[in-house]
Amino acid sequence: NWSMKNFIEDQVEKIRAQVGNDNVLCALSGGVDSSVVAALIHRAIGDQLTCMFVDHGLLRKGEAESVVETFDGKFNMNFIKIDAQERFLSKLKGVSDPEQKRKIIGNEFVYCFDEESAKLKDMKFLAQGTLYTDIIESGTDTAQTIKSHHNVGGLPEDMEFELIEPLNTLFKDEVRQLGLELGLPEEIVFRQPFPGPGLGIRVLGEVTEEKLEIVRDSDFILREEIKKAGLERDVWQYFTALPNIKSVGVMGDERTYDYTVVVRAVTSIDGMTSDWARIPFEVLEKISVRIVNEVAHVNRVVYDITSKPPATIEWE
Ligand code: XMP
Repeated sequence: NWSMKNFIEDQVEKIRAQVGNDNVLCALSGGVDSSVVAALIHRAIGDQLTCMFVDHGLLRKGEAESVVETFDGKFNMNFIKIDAQERFLSKLKGVSDPEQKRKIIGNEFVYCFDEESAKLKDMKFLAQGTLYTDIIESGTDTAQTIKSHHNVGGLPEDMEFELIEPLNTLFKDEVRQLGLELGLPEEIVFRQPFPGPGLGIRVLGEVTEEKLEIVRDSDFILREEIKKAGLERDVWQYFTALPNIKSVGVMGDERTYDYTVVVRAVTSIDGMTSDWARIPFEVLEKISVRIVNEVAHVNRVVYDITSKPPATIEWE
């Protein structure tokens, strides 16, 4: 008789048997899967687990803080945070091609993880939040060839770790259930999908700190208003992006020439196809007014009303 509690007990035993007295390293991304895998393994072996979190500076506002609070704070895990914001930003300097940005961010993540994990002694195992669907999709998924996703096989072959993948029989909804059962906060468990390259592909063209800040701040306002309107669970994914457009506006008596922010919000089952979310006009109005008033260098907000296909969900 399968239940989440039985699953946890079974996995805890299996993990203990596999690990013995050795140590496990887990790369936390802040996403659902790596968070749940960390919580599960921590339940099994406590301090034999070390979590490493590379802050590449491309997360949404407040996300790095929430990871630290949860894993370092609430769970009190062995927790290492790598501040790599400047390193990533300098690698991205002058680069505007989306695929190249993805490659740089993916590679840099691996180098960073590699370097930092080499400093740790006696790590025999590497925990990964691979799901059942990741295994199925990684072979044939056409989306992966259209845009190079970095979720599976992202770490180099020559790392001398044995893998632990305790979620590889589960679907996403089961992983969320498991996360709640293990005491993870809802903001992590029900986090909307977020691309590995993060805000690096939501600032279109070259990534700069100024542009990242516009995306972070406008995205934060969007999330607040979606939450206030009670639409969080109805909209599958929602975010702002910054196309490389400046346009003319007027504020007070002044002519302005500033950035346009695009709001993207979609309904979807699995991200393979999607429709634009019918967010009520009043909610869109609040979002627009707040972004223009509260985010410096923005004088225009547009709403993306394209389905996928023919558009993709992200703009890059
Ligand atoms: P698109 O834009 O292809 O997005 O319609 C479909 C889903 O995939 C996410 N996405 C990515 N995820 N690395 C990721 O891990 C990527 O490079 C990447 N590009 C898009 C996107 O956020 C959406 O949920």
